[in-house]
Amino acid sequence: MVEVSTSDGTYDVVVRAGALAELPSLIVERLTCEKYAVISDDNVAPVHGRAVREACLEAGLDTSLFTFPAGESSKTRRSWSILTDELLEAGFGRDSCVIAVGGGVTTDLAGFVAATFLRGVPVVQVPTSYLAMIDASVGGKTGVDVEAGKNLVGAFHPPRLVLADPEVLTTLPFPERAQGLVEAFKHGAILDRAYFDRLRADVGDLMAADAAIAGPAVARSVELKAKVVSEDEFEGGYRQILNFGHTLGHAIEAASDYHLGHGSAVALGMLLETDLGERLGVTEAGTRERLQPALEELLGPLDQVSYDADAAVGYLRTDKKVRRGKPRVVLLRSLGEVDPGSGWSHEVSQSQLAETLAAGRGVAS
Ligand code: GLY
Repeated sequence: MVEVSTSDGTYDVVVRAGALAELPSLIVERLTCEKYAVISDDNVAPVHGRAVREACLEAGLDTSLFTFPAGESSKTRRSWSILTDELLEAGFGRDSCVIAVGGGVTTDLAGFVAATFLRGVPVVQVPTSYLAMIDASVGGKTGVDVEAGKNLVGAFHPPRLVLADPEVLTTLPFPERAQGLVEAFKHGAILDRAYFDRLRADVGDLMAADAAIAGPAVARSVELKAKVVSEDEFEGGYRQILNFGHTLGHAIEAASDYHLGHGSAVALGMLLETDLGERLGVTEAGTRERLQPALEELLGPLDQVSYDADAAVGYLRTDKKVRRGKPRVVLLRSLGEVDPGSGWSHEVSQSQLAETLAAGRGVAS
């Protein structure tokens, strides 16, 4: 169990094989609500959402299940509006609790429903994908995508409990396993070289979702992320290190009209931002050479991924990491360590980023 500190207290992240069976008792130890709303997408609902509802009902909790269509295209204000209307129609009040059961889209969307419903009700996060366990469910970021970009409307709303049961990962489609594990490699790249190396050695077992290997990896990522968000909940400085690979990654992902997976885009972003760091003399020479083979063992050849560099440059302008009109990037000092820069990121020019994207495309073609 990992404890995360927030401005409003602490919450526990339980990472344990088989822990899903304990969910009702873990909730009751922490919360007293009149009604519980399990929110899942229509892929996860039949596999885990209904089971969670049944288990909560058996434990005497008045629980209903609400679903939405699976996919990133559901992470919208429209889905938020449908779900909040459904909760109101079903008589949910201020003494309600949301239980988000699913991957990153559910974590963010159901978290945003909880953050805003009647000005905020508690949320329990039950992540069922690597991405949601390792990243999205911890740290309190919630929100939806809008026309101008991903996650541009949202709120910080820390969960009251996160329960990650690595046994459920066997139900996750293989491409999603690889995409989500990229964030674990990112944690290793920014904070813990030994963890990065261990992930690389264990990549086969992680892709097989062997709970004996996946559990400790999820737990290590949660420990690393918890330490960062406990220190800087609202991303005033240190939390920005979690954005490594995301400045260029988000731009590439948007330029692909979201056809490229988030993990693949972030992996490319990590490589390109490392190229930039090496060129600027901030990142130890040879770091990209260490990153690339590990990421390729997970995702396949990254040199063959092509993207529209001009479109990616356009998207950089709406990036949340832009400050005073200047983009900022997180740069490694070496594998396993971030360079502090100024406030944990480096101000770079649009043209440096454009050149980096164009050079990357040159490699990729
Ligand atoms: N996913 C990055 C963060 O939570 O800050």
